[in-house]
Amino acid sequence: MHVLILGGTTEARALAGLLHGRVRVTSSLAGRVASPRLPAGEVRIGGFGGVDGLVEWMTGHAVDAVIDATHPFAERISFNAARAAATAHVPLLALRRPGWVPGEGDDWRSVGSLEEAATALDGLGDRVFLTTGRMGLAAFATCPQWFLVRSVDAPDAPMPARTEVLLDRGPFTLDGEREILARRRIDVVVTKDSGGAATAPKLTAAREAGLPVVVVRRPPVPEGVPTAASPEEAAAWVAATR
Ligand SMILES: NC(=O)c1ccc[n+]([C@@H]2O[C@H](COP(=O)([O-])OP(=O)(O)OC[C@H]3O[C@@H](n4cnc5c(N)ncnc54)[C@H](OP(=O)(O)O)[C@@H]3O)[C@@H](O)[C@H]2O)c1
Repeated sequence: MHVLILGGTTEARALAGLLHGRVRVTSSLAGRVASPRLPAGEVRIGGFGGVDGLVEWMTGHAVDAVIDATHPFAERISFNAARAAATAHVPLLALRRPGWVPGEGDDWRSVGSLEEAATALDGLGDRVFLTTGRMGLAAFATCPQWFLVRSVDAPDAPMPARTEVLLDRGPFTLDGEREILARRRIDVVVTKDSGGAATAPKLTAAREAGLPVVVVRRPPVPEGVPTAASPEEAAAWVAATR
């Protein structure tokens, strides 16, 4: 059996580790990160060339099942996977880690997009900790606030006029996040609802400091695609699909 994992996440790497040695597994990465952490098994890097390219790749490599384990905000590839799997008659599962849930003392502002997040910043202070990644900074380009932008690789323009870039890759620690908020005198944090433990400490640090967090809601999983919440659940689905 040949399983294609559309990856780029911690969960995708964990799933490749679980499946490696039990089935043939190929992980696909978009190639956005200069030196990605590589999963076990075979790896291919770069876009497929839309739905048609993905169908062609799956057919040409005799793929029996696809797991879309991409980031919850990687909307285009998830849409393409749904279309391609239906066209090629290959079973598809979406692996999505659960989203974050606000707790006692959290001051979260839920928004539907990065553009809405930019608007929601009005009145929340001048110093913003922006943790939504290097893509999509254009949404904040005309914002007057000062931004601390944290990303794995350096972001491209356009970005806000007053920006400092902090290159770093999770997992992040609570102590580290506390220090950033305090030393950079942050007024507000912006995040996507990525879920997972690796980047959650900023939420705890913001709660402790009494800071608001603007949280971008997730796009929906494409209609009709079953989902698993953990790599173990996805591995069980593969076993049942064999
Ligand atoms: N969006 C985020 O916040 C975020 C955060 C962390 C990690 N990531 C990871 O980074 C990658 C790119 O994210 P994105 O938001 O730019 O994706 P996207 O907007 O959904 O995808 C744009 C295009 O990139 C290519 N692509 C995306 N993921 C791919 C994969 N796993 N393998 C091969 N090609 C892929 C596809 O090109 P073709 O049409 O040419 O096939 C796709 O049409 C994803 O794999 C995702 O898991 C994203």
